[in-house]
Amino acid sequence: MTFTSRATLISFLLLASRVAAHGYVEWVFANGRNYTGDNVDDPQGIPTPIRTVSGRGPVTDVTSQYIACGNQAKVVSEEALVDAGGTIEIRWSPSWPHNAGSMTAWMAECGGSDCTKFDDLSQAQWFKVDEKGVDQATGQWYLGEIFQHPGMPYNLTIPNLKAGHYLLRHELINLALVATPGGSGAELYPQGIQLSVQGSGNLVPQSSDCVHFPRAYKATDPGLTFAPGDQPKSQYQIPGGPLAKLVAASGQSSETGTTNAASLTALSTASPSTLTDDDKQTSTITSNSTTTTGDSSSTQTSIDGSTDATSQPTDGCSGKSTKKRRGVALSEIRGRTLRGRHVRV
Ligand SMILES: *[C@@H]1O[C@H](CO)[C@@H](O)[C@H](O)[C@H]1NC(C)=O
Ligand SMILES: *[C@@H]1O[C@H](CO)[C@@H](O)[C@H](O)[C@H]1NC(C)=O
Ligand SMILES: *[C@@H]1O[C@H](CO)[C@@H](O)[C@H](O)[C@H]1NC(C)=O
Repeated sequence: MTFTSRATLISFLLLASRVAAHGYVEWVFANGRNYTGDNVDDPQGIPTPIRTVSGRGPVTDVTSQYIACGNQAKVVSEEALVDAGGTIEIRWSPSWPHNAGSMTAWMAECGGSDCTKFDDLSQAQWFKVDEKGVDQATGQWYLGEIFQHPGMPYNLTIPNLKAGHYLLRHELINLALVATPGGSGAELYPQGIQLSVQGSGNLVPQSSDCVHFPRAYKATDPGLTFAPGDQPKSQYQIPGGPLAKLVAASGQSSETGTTNAASLTALSTASPSTLTDDDKQTSTITSNSTTTTGDSSSTQTSIDGSTDATSQPTDGCSGKSTKKRRGVALSEIRGRTLRGRHVRV
């Protein structure tokens, strides 16, 4: 083969890969071990912790079941071992072409079993553990910063979670086509990675921060309708709400320093009254903070949700979804309660 024809062939292949586009998780590296994913074009059923997807294409319908772990994601036969507090490197296929958008990572316990048996993703209760949109230091998309270095992995530090079997949902969101007439809108590339988290970690998510896919996103979310060329990057809001607050499994607050965890401790010290009393009290205070913060619509929801709450929000994602909604309300109000008190002091 001459140099010219080889060069032509290479450009053709590059072009073909861009037209076919996009990507998938090729390998992950954790605790000194490299786990390769299956071949998406021709799956061999090899042992891997990376749930196999049916191709390189995106999920564009946020109401699809495939929004959880990717198109026709299949359970696989391994788990990657990772220490709580340790890092997992996640490497996307090298031809990933998109630079505008965000990256998120979510985790869900595998229903009390090993993740190799956890097939019904409608049961997965996800909590967000990482999100990367715009790097405020450089004003650039993290997505572009990582992928402009071909082969650079995205690295996730696993929080100091209680040991167990967790499914990791890692996702890239491509916004390039949002403003394209007739385009597909935001393209989402979720992928599932089966993990066995080891160690003596004790954190669990606040139940109020657990969500389901589908449902966690709406097609109208600002983070999915953002047109990169038309809107300032600094205004970008990553979809799916804030990172989950993590608390010690016993229900006491943790060292993570998150606002709500701190609020919960302070509140339990300051207010040993029953929850019902607490709810009444906080509803009043919330109304006051509404006038100062001006976010009355979300506050109203919180009050409605909390008036009939009869049980303390549980830690971890095990509560039923109605309880979880109350949990959201109560924890939000608790945060506001403290702020209200501070204002008065
Ligand atoms: C993991 O294996 C792939 C080959 O399957 C290799 O290209 C990659 O460099 C390895 N990653 C690490 C971190 O060793
Ligand atoms: C992830 O970690 C690897 C290994 O330490 C490093 O080479 C790479 O630059 C890191 N990726 C990012 C985005 O920082
Ligand atoms: C909260 O509002 C009520 C009625 O609007 C008022 O009576 C009360 O003094 C307010 N409390 C604070 C702390 O502002």
